[in-house]
Amino acid sequence: MDIPEQRIQIAVQKTGRLTEHSIDLLERCGLKITKSRDQLICYGENMPIDLLLVRDDDIPGLVSEDVCDLGIVGLNIVEEKRLNLESEGREGLFKQIYELDFGHCRLSLAAPEEREYAGPESLENTRIATSYVGILNDYLKKNNINAETVYFSGAVEIAPKLGRADYICDLVSTGSTLKANGLTEVDVLMDSEAVVIQTQAPLGDEKQALVDKILQRLDGVLQVRESKYIMLHAPRSALAEIRDLLPGSEAPTVLPLDGTDDKVAVHAVCRENVFWETLENLKAAGASSLLVLPVEKMLA
Ligand code: PRP
Ligand code: ZN
Repeated sequence: MDIPEQRIQIAVQKTGRLTEHSIDLLERCGLKITKSRDQLICYGENMPIDLLLVRDDDIPGLVSEDVCDLGIVGLNIVEEKRLNLESEGREGLFKQIYELDFGHCRLSLAAPEEREYAGPESLENTRIATSYVGILNDYLKKNNINAETVYFSGAVEIAPKLGRADYICDLVSTGSTLKANGLTEVDVLMDSEAVVIQTQAPLGDEKQALVDKILQRLDGVLQVRESKYIMLHAPRSALAEIRDLLPGSEAPTVLPLDGTDDKVAVHAVCRENVFWETLENLKAAGASSLLVLPVEKMLA
């Protein structure tokens, strides 16, 4: 009898600010995918992993209900879902694994330019339009403010113009949506970025092993993004100083150089971005022949 292969489902935003980066990240983990005709599923060709392309708002629910094993979604959506469930006396059955350092944005309060804002107390007895009722109400409660939240499922930024609200509470990334609608950001409720969430349902050994593998690769991809491989020549006498200047590196490799005793080659993986200033400081300390290379893959 053929035992059907266990496949992992990963929920990814169908269209939006996270889509491209999410798929790119998984491809960097070695996943090759083909899109289905209806573009709702991407099938993994070389790994038993499929991507479900869905609305971002649905991702925490799909992961919580064990329809998907993993999800890539904005922290703002995760937090909103958590608060919504909490208000129903339930708990989200998902756990947050990694912050992915893309899709950075913030959930902010904004108002028409002419409106004066002097802190949360300015919100007293006003109407605030938002898609993030849970987070907004939580914020109002923590600040002891009485205000009316007006739910908008989208296009929140037009609410003040329609006379439906005094303020809006919405995501801001570049700020161009606010600007185009004559609104000014007055306060930040939370900072957000893409995160990986995992279901808390037990997965079985085979699936869990596969989830662990993909998470380990994700971790590797995240680490190399900031990592650089530095090679340089240094006088032996300057080794200690040069070692201190290498950003976020563990013990560098020190190699002899042919035909000289007082100079060595130093190779190091730096876990932080290497800036021009660092190179200039290394040079000032006596380093020469400096070379900085990108790191392609890393497995701790
Ligand atoms: C958010 C928000 C604004 C826009 C702000 O929507 O609702 O419309 O992004 O970005 P900006 O500051 O760069 O102009 P998003 O694209 O996340 O869509 P969604 O809320 O419908 O998922
Ligand atoms: Zn959305």
